[in-house]
Amino acid sequence: MDYFNYKDNELYAEDLKVSALAQKFGTPLYIYSKATLVRHMQAFEQALAGKKHLICYAVKANSNLALLSLMRSLGAGFDVVSEGELRRVLKIGADPKKVIFSGVGKTRAELSLALQSGIGCINVESSAELETLSQLCAELKLPARVALRVNPDVDAKTHPSISTGLKSNKFGIAAEDAFALYQRIAADPYLKVSGIDCHIGSQMTSNGPIAEATEKLLTLYGKLEEAGILVDHIDIGGGLGVTYGDETPPSPYEYMAAVLKRVGKRDVSIYVEPGRAMVANAGILVSQVQYLKPTSSKNFCIVDAGMSDLIRPALYNSWMNIIECTRHDEPKVLYDVVGPICESDDFLGKERKLAVQPGDFIAVRGAGAYGMAMASNYNARRLPCEILVDGSTVHVIRKRQSFEDLWQHEDALQF
Ligand code: LLP
Repeated sequence: MDYFNYKDNELYAEDLKVSALAQKFGTPLYIYSKATLVRHMQAFEQALAGKKHLICYAVKANSNLALLSLMRSLGAGFDVVSEGELRRVLKIGADPKKVIFSGVGKTRAELSLALQSGIGCINVESSAELETLSQLCAELKLPARVALRVNPDVDAKTHPSISTGLKSNKFGIAAEDAFALYQRIAADPYLKVSGIDCHIGSQMTSNGPIAEATEKLLTLYGKLEEAGILVDHIDIGGGLGVTYGDETPPSPYEYMAAVLKRVGKRDVSIYVEPGRAMVANAGILVSQVQYLKPTSSKNFCIVDAGMSDLIRPALYNSWMNIIECTRHDEPKVLYDVVGPICESDDFLGKERKLAVQPGDFIAVRGAGAYGMAMASNYNARRLPCEILVDGSTVHVIRKRQSFEDLWQHEDALQF
């Protein structure tokens, strides 16, 4: 459930009319709903209420400082995958102990900053990374809490581009190799075994894969326990899917129940790293119709947002719902909704029924996750403005880029 609803044929973000916000702040415009974010965070909290846990919001889904600050105020920790993300969460005053660091290619500089900030856990993805970390800890004389990201070889049954838990993926360490590496960690003077981690994919719409992955992690947990190596948390990663169209993903409660049922009474904390489930449906991308272009084969609705603002449809052929910000009585027409960018893949949606005229605003739903976070300056387009609605109050949480911003780090050399 979210707080983008129609009243008298006008789309509202909480108590504010979306078309009025679009007029005021210009388009393309990302609008987020605070109440929706709070609701999603509470849903995860309730789902884990009976168990020690840490909800580490996956910063990659949307790293706007205001959203991070809101998540922190609601008790979230953070999952980061780069120095930039780590610096973002430190900037908003996150407790470093509630931050975990994932990713296959952490550099020495990134690991050093993580160690110096006293990060909660480093999710190590290879034996080579473990050696680097061990050396760095010895050089800096700093301890590190470590989890190994296990690749459980489970099919997440999602889009191949966002599936990460198969043997053929670059992520994680094969379960059969993990045991020896845990022994290596346990014997290291600076490293401390903290958790067992996995992340098998994104936009999962059933419980089966995460249940299977949890069982594999628990088998390893049992072997470690027998060897006297104690783990304080099990991290099941992110991946819970959302409804873009007709998907019916489990609720956070159902999803976590599938994990908790398997973990049972084991004395471990449960970590989860939700990104999409937290922010996707808390955000919309609003765009203005520029031209309607009927051709002999199809009708194009050309809008002022494109793949530079929201790349998911072009990159993964993702279906995202496109709705009118003001509903009209006229008959709907079938359109390909396309942007202004010089690429044939620059579309937001194909074969959509809309009743729109030039000047009208449309909204792409579910755009809060991996929307702005993956936006670019392609075609020398400025990054859009982002606003956060809280009831009838609106905050600009990122100004639209200026044209000067586009070239501020360049040097024309004055030939
Ligand atoms: N943890 C790790 C280690 C991850 O790699 C990811 C996402 C997450 C957590 C959060 O997963 P989520 O809860 O959001 O599914 N750009 C793609 C999604 C890529 C996801 C990458 N990893 C998209 O737009 O669909």
